[in-house]
Amino acid sequence: MKNILVTGGAGFIGSNFVHMMLDTYDDIEVIVYDKLTYAGNLDNLIPVADNPHYTFYKGDICHANNVDEVMKKHKIDTIVNFAAETHVDRSLMEPGGFIQTDVYGTYVLLEAAKKHGVERMNQVSTDEVYGQVLEGRSKENDRLHTRSPYSASKAGGDLMCQAYYTSFNVPVTITRGSNNIGQYQYPEKVVPLFISNALEDKPLPVYGDGLQMRDYQYVLDHCRGIDMVLRKGMHGEIYNIGSGMETTNIVMTKAILHLLNKPESLIQYITDRPGHDRRYALDVSKAQALGWKNEYDFERAIAATVKWYVENQDWWRKVKEKKDYQEYYQRNYAGRDIKNDKI
Ligand code: NAD
Ligand code: DAU
Repeated sequence: MKNILVTGGAGFIGSNFVHMMLDTYDDIEVIVYDKLTYAGNLDNLIPVADNPHYTFYKGDICHANNVDEVMKKHKIDTIVNFAAETHVDRSLMEPGGFIQTDVYGTYVLLEAAKKHGVERMNQVSTDEVYGQVLEGRSKENDRLHTRSPYSASKAGGDLMCQAYYTSFNVPVTITRGSNNIGQYQYPEKVVPLFISNALEDKPLPVYGDGLQMRDYQYVLDHCRGIDMVLRKGMHGEIYNIGSGMETTNIVMTKAILHLLNKPESLIQYITDRPGHDRRYALDVSKAQALGWKNEYDFERAIAATVKWYVENQDWWRKVKEKKDYQEYYQRNYAGRDIKNDKI
């Protein structure tokens, strides 16, 4: 692993992965290739902008010729694909872009991996492909049971990776992460949305009864897990990466308010997300067997996350001020009923 192409490296997890890799190793080149959609943000990469081992290209993973050029120029031996449309609520509004990037874009990268004979391509996937898991924990060979256009597109990408391994021996691995939290997360996702709304004394819109369960994992634990799989994972295998702990959304919401010393009266229960998955839970023993271990429990992860958003208000205020953010907010939240009296 010498020349790593990080697609989607200007997004939340991708940028954290770039920081971590450049902080940890001085014998690698990191080449970020990112379309800079609404979620891509070059501010996330400012800390590495002058690093001589880092290069940035603006580009779409669906454009095979551009991908090919970068692969050739930098003699890429490893691809880590973070590039995706990632927000479930947006996938309910406009699924087409999800199918394009998350399925077709993955296919383009697999073709490039095959053509250039890479040592490894890791597809960054999600626990959402297992669908909601009301009891027990998802294992890597469980049946996929997707329920949103987002999770269905991610599952399509995963299946394409497995097909390229089986049919063409392309050395893929797939990592399936849980709900990441931490620095540089776009404030449409619940945790940065709730922290920033609370700091602005705006309501925190909780979907349904707020008793949905998520495995909130600190982003750097996820990034370290991906690095471990790149180094020690077996070709063709899938690895779940999560904290292995569960928290309800309402507990997460109250933890944020408590850390910020804000009142619970900011909580607003609103009409639920259609097809809202009730619970995700991962069995992470396969990744642990490689030597990886989750370090941040929920309390530490949420405290570190809140601290970052308190100390980096310019970062999220700049995002929230943009017209496209405000239009999305209006479109997603304006039509929903407020149901505080029913809870
Ligand atoms: P994000 O939305 O913050 O960032 C996505 C990045 O991909 C952006 O920089 C965007 O510009 C780029 N991108 C989108 N379409 C592209 C295209 N066609 N070509 C090139 N670049 C493109 O996403 P994230 O939360 O950092 O998620 C990264 C990956 O991890 C995704 O594949 C996602 O499915 C997966 N994942 C996310 C989570 C989570 O909790 N956020 C959990 C598990 C897995
Ligand atoms: O599980 C991994 C997945 O986690 C990733 O694959 C996705 O890319 C990422 O977006 C995330 O999906 P979720 O749908 O779980 O995340 P989101 O932050 O949108 O919502 C988390 C929970 O909070 C979910 O139960 C819905 C709820 N929620 C969300 C929003 C945006 C609210 O109650 N209110 C909100 O306004």
